Amino acid sequence: MEIKRFDTAAELDIYAAQLFSDLLEHKPDAVLGLATGSTPVGIYEKMIEMHRSGKMTFRDAATFNLDEYVGLAPSHDQSYARFMKQHLFNDIDLPAGRAHLPDGMAHNLQAECLGYDRMLAANPIDMQLLGLGHNGHIGFNEPDNALQAGTHIVELKAATREANARFFDSLDQVPTRAITMGVGSILKAQNILLVVKGADKAEIVKQSLTGPITTECPASLLQTHARVIVLLDREAGRLL
Ligand code: F6R
Repeated sequence: MEIKRFDTAAELDIYAAQLFSDLLEHKPDAVLGLATGSTPVGIYEKMIEMHRSGKMTFRDAATFNLDEYVGLAPSHDQSYARFMKQHLFNDIDLPAGRAHLPDGMAHNLQAECLGYDRMLAANPIDMQLLGLGHNGHIGFNEPDNALQAGTHIVELKAATREANARFFDSLDQVPTRAITMGVGSILKAQNILLVVKGADKAEIVKQSLTGPITTECPASLLQTHARVIVLLDREAGRLL
């Protein structure tokens, strides 16, 4: 695991965007694994800037997002499909059909999970971007005594719904279920970029990177992957 610390979030964002840019330069048809949440927003802004100044094209790329809420249509304000359009896809040249997210409105969710895994198998991810939940979740793989390898439906923990309630009018509007890539699918990515910002994540960063490898802290499984780069701002890295 390569761990890099940055004095400011802006420096971290530039570094992360540059890693994706380097990948696309060397492999224009790379498959990018993307995340939502607060953490990647600044990285996506930098990617858009680089795209606008002609330094980054997504023309031949494809993307796969980690997760989506069950029951939210792509047009819903808080769906991850909408988030990705607002924060990245509307402002880059990624062809529309090459942006993939699980469909949280699928009539048959089990079939949707299997279909997503089939697409991932046919399009192995070159670089997977990950944020980190306060409880150690990656994607929506929540701490548990067992984890699922492939894409699956998950009941969101109370703490995760509370953390995400800031984006909704009230807690009861936060969906109770999500569809997420499994830890097995995440670990199949060629390269993983784990990005963590803020003092409130310092403890879980320490546990994930230096604690025991356990399903009770899904991010700790990243310790088993040969090519993980961890980008931390000063606050998130302060207990290492
Ligand atoms: C988002 C995702 C989540 C977030 C995590 C951190 O697609 O899969 O695992 O990365 O909850 O969220 P933020 O960045 O909002 O702190």
